[in-house]
Amino acid sequence: MREDVIGRANVEDTPELDRYYQDLERVDAAALWTVANKIEPWEPKSDSVPVLWRWRDLRDVVLRSVDLVSPEKAGRRVVYLNNPGRREVAAACGWLFSGLQVMHPGEVATAHQHSASALRFIMEGSGAYTIVDGHKMSLAANDFVLTPNGAWHEHGVEADGTPCIWQDGLDIPLVNALEANFFAVHPDLYQKVGYAVDDTTHTFGNPGLRPVDDKWSKGYSPMFKYQWEPTYEALTKYSRTTDGSPFDGVMMNYVNPITGGPVMQTIGAAMQMLRSGEATRAHRHTGSVIYQVAKGKGYSIIGGRHFDWRERDIFCVPSWVWHEHGNASASDDACLFSFNDLPVMAALGLYREEAYGDNAGHQPPAA
Ligand SMILES: [Fe+2]
Ligand SMILES: [Fe+2]
Repeated sequence: MREDVIGRANVEDTPELDRYYQDLERVDAAALWTVANKIEPWEPKSDSVPVLWRWRDLRDVVLRSVDLVSPEKAGRRVVYLNNPGRREVAAACGWLFSGLQVMHPGEVATAHQHSASALRFIMEGSGAYTIVDGHKMSLAANDFVLTPNGAWHEHGVEADGTPCIWQDGLDIPLVNALEANFFAVHPDLYQKVGYAVDDTTHTFGNPGLRPVDDKWSKGYSPMFKYQWEPTYEALTKYSRTTDGSPFDGVMMNYVNPITGGPVMQTIGAAMQMLRSGEATRAHRHTGSVIYQVAKGKGYSIIGGRHFDWRERDIFCVPSWVWHEHGNASASDDACLFSFNDLPVMAALGLYREEAYGDNAGHQPPAA
């Protein structure tokens, strides 16, 4: 790939150079100028494509998996979101994995741990629970729970519950790209619950207050579970006092209450409210984001493509792609849950952001 620009590779092929390239190949080497323009693009070019996964398409195929495989045989009964541009690494977007997991009442999946950081966002059903390092948490729709890097965790649904579906989010593709992924099955297969149910949320989830004797020093949030009701209440209160972000409406990050930083070292998460009729301006930034519609209906324009979404739909915004969001209702707010790899971008000094330039700041449709 030649470019006729000073400072960029622009070498024409000759028989002599061809012979030279063959000689380099024989000693496991190559000439940078043959690949430089490709491996050093002027700006990020994501292989991921913007995708909207509709709940009405996904729900039935996810439920079908219940009759086809058991959680014991599957390890985890998950249907994963397979971005057409990222199939070889099983990513939903960029270096993020996402899937939908279904469990029936009375089912339990064995405990395990992995180097990948993971989260779950509950979509439907009652009686779901997760146990993280001996802390058991009960889960309801729109609750958000962490299963951090290296933590033992297992999932189940109580016998008196209903079939549960939740979205999983992990950084498996990233950790694999870094060649740092370990996985272990718990030696006893299941954990012993060593604390009162929901103790982490009761201990660390009180706004503006922190226990005098906590000694938490791990790199992720000790809170593990973030419930929907206080999250929605916080957004509602905040919406009364702010104009919000021009690009995201009223948006709040889920944070590690000890540091105020992201919930895990490699994955951040947020909930945002688009007020009735609100339409944001377009911006773009490095890092991948996967959204789930927690409430309401609206649309997003991603890379010039218009996607209409409603509750439980999932969509993705690849790195450095223009995006903007709108609430389609004139009377109700809409809420988007999202998770991202922005903590990685920030920690490595790779975060960049840009507002769309024209007056209104809205993107033109895709050509
Ligand atoms: Fe896991
Ligand atoms: Fe954004």
